[in-house]
Amino acid sequence: MNVLGIETSCDETSASVLNSDFKILSNVILSQDEIHAPYGGVVPELASRQHLTSIGYVVQECLDRARLKLEKISAFAVTQGPGLIGSLLVGLSFAKGLAFYFAKPLIGIDHLEAHIESAFLENRKIPLPALALVVSGGHTSTFFMKKKLDYKLVGRTRDDAAGEALDKIAKFLDLGYPGGPIIDKLAEKGNPRKFMFALPRMTDGSLDFSFSGLKTAALKLVREHKISKDQPHFFDFLASFEMAVIRALLSNLAQAIELFKPESLVLCGGVARNKKLRHYFTELGQKQSLPFFIPSPEFCTDNAAMVASLGLVKLKSGKKISFSLNLNAYPRSGY
Ligand code: KG4
Ligand code: ZN
Repeated sequence: MNVLGIETSCDETSASVLNSDFKILSNVILSQDEIHAPYGGVVPELASRQHLTSIGYVVQECLDRARLKLEKISAFAVTQGPGLIGSLLVGLSFAKGLAFYFAKPLIGIDHLEAHIESAFLENRKIPLPALALVVSGGHTSTFFMKKKLDYKLVGRTRDDAAGEALDKIAKFLDLGYPGGPIIDKLAEKGNPRKFMFALPRMTDGSLDFSFSGLKTAALKLVREHKISKDQPHFFDFLASFEMAVIRALLSNLAQAIELFKPESLVLCGGVARNKKLRHYFTELGQKQSLPFFIPSPEFCTDNAAMVASLGLVKLKSGKKISFSLNLNAYPRSGY
């Protein structure tokens, strides 16, 4: 049994094949970073057009690397949402065409659930229940995963996502796109204690996140201290802002641990590539004596291996899954 996964929710065109033992036979990711870089963010119209141009090649390359023909694919798994609607529709329509032609099941996959699944690609025995922090450019959410395919939303951002806040500050300082990895690198040279940021607190006791306040405070500091690339406190500012984002994420997770008493912790999504976040998340896991799991960087970014993997889990679960060709794309999170 081989499952082909397809992911086009944002600005990566990706295809991957897993066999029935969850072994990754291939995972091809084509990034559109260069196309969106001049605009300092993803331009939805350009993203969907580029997916259209790339999807055929990416799927073919994925099959070639796996040394498989399409006839050997037992099911097609595809990201349904949340994401950019035009981008989602390219992957979904392509997968529908394949499923229809080969008369094989089509499995719709939620992008946030797929990010959580990315941790299982390298370790199928993560103790459950787990608390999973999904941090990306479009999402910042914590889930309590009681058992496989059972996700409960614990908290989510009420405004910007963590990655979005990093990207916006980088754009404001004219550092390039995507800003997250650029800040990750430049912040290494700075003192994270130089500038203090007040952490956002929810007054209603919820475990939601908020990053717009941090972003506004950062922009205020930039203006007050005239922060720019050639100014002495430039690196300190980036290190301090990065640390504020990490503290906001992990202090929230620490509260969720108290409340939900999980058996393990998962960190996933594009921002989980951040070196300092990985370091402090590891420290939190050790302090709490909980096993913790962070995917390798290639599986933190949007990829189709996590989509195929969740498709396979669904196929094997024996649960009734709707394999209908009428699957719809959804732009907003259903959680
Ligand atoms: O999961 P992802 O590939 O796409 C979404 O679903 O959004 O995440 C992309 C986000 C971007 O905001 C990018 O700046 C951020 O992940 N990112 C990083 C790093 N690498 C990517 N943020 C901080 N440090 C990094 N090393
Ligand atoms: Zn993502």
